[in-house]
Amino acid sequence: MRNKKVNARDQYIRDLYAAETELLTQIRATLAEQNLSIHVSPEEGKLLQVLVRLHRSKHIVEIGTLGGYSALWMAEALPADGHITTFEKSSERAEMARKHIATSPYTKKITVVEGDAHAMLREHKGKVDMVFIDAEKTGYPDYLEWAEQHLPVGGLLVADNTFLFDTVFSEAPEGEAKMWNAMRQFNAALAERFEAIILPTAEGLSIALKPAK
Ligand SMILES: C[S@@+](CC[C@H](N)C(=O)[O-])C[C@H]1O[C@@H](n2cnc3c(N)ncnc32)[C@H](O)[C@@H]1O
Repeated sequence: MRNKKVNARDQYIRDLYAAETELLTQIRATLAEQNLSIHVSPEEGKLLQVLVRLHRSKHIVEIGTLGGYSALWMAEALPADGHITTFEKSSERAEMARKHIATSPYTKKITVVEGDAHAMLREHKGKVDMVFIDAEKTGYPDYLEWAEQHLPVGGLLVADNTFLFDTVFSEAPEGEAKMWNAMRQFNAALAERFEAIILPTAEGLSIALKPAK
């Protein structure tokens, strides 16, 4: 979510379907105070939660933790033996997320891994049945390669911001060609290699299943 005013449609969805826990509201306020409103919105958080339940995901890898807001939304939908490993490059943000998670009922269900996900993912040993990509946009093609290699057939891939702030379907904005090319490449590869669609949320949320060969 960016620092945009919530429109009436999204507010309606939020009020009706996406009530936050007190902790989630508090995290959102803390992030806003620091000008870090770059997390998913409450309604996208609820959507992630519904996807986790629908897919019966148990072993989630999240790329891009920030303050733990989206991870905490997903954690609520995990079964007792489910787990999220979430990767965050910034040590300050990883520390902030750990503090938030420590005050939640999901301390044992979420592990924050600090470091550049491109390197850290290669050391990840656990099972994976869902990947949520929400980090730097130039990295999406590399994250997709990793997800494709590690997800089982039927595994779920979700990626936020795939409209690239409403630029991906038009010309590359000046000075942003690298990011634009990366997102075009990501979306095209997902369309070709997965059972995929972009949900037309405010930012574009891709959901994709890894097909059988
Ligand atoms: C959009 S925010 C994540 C928001 C979070 N998923 C939520 O909705 O609550 C993106 C995060 O990815 C982190 N990030 C950027 N590049 C990264 C990388 N190469 N490896 C790991 N984290 C990265 C940023 O520091 C930032 O905190």
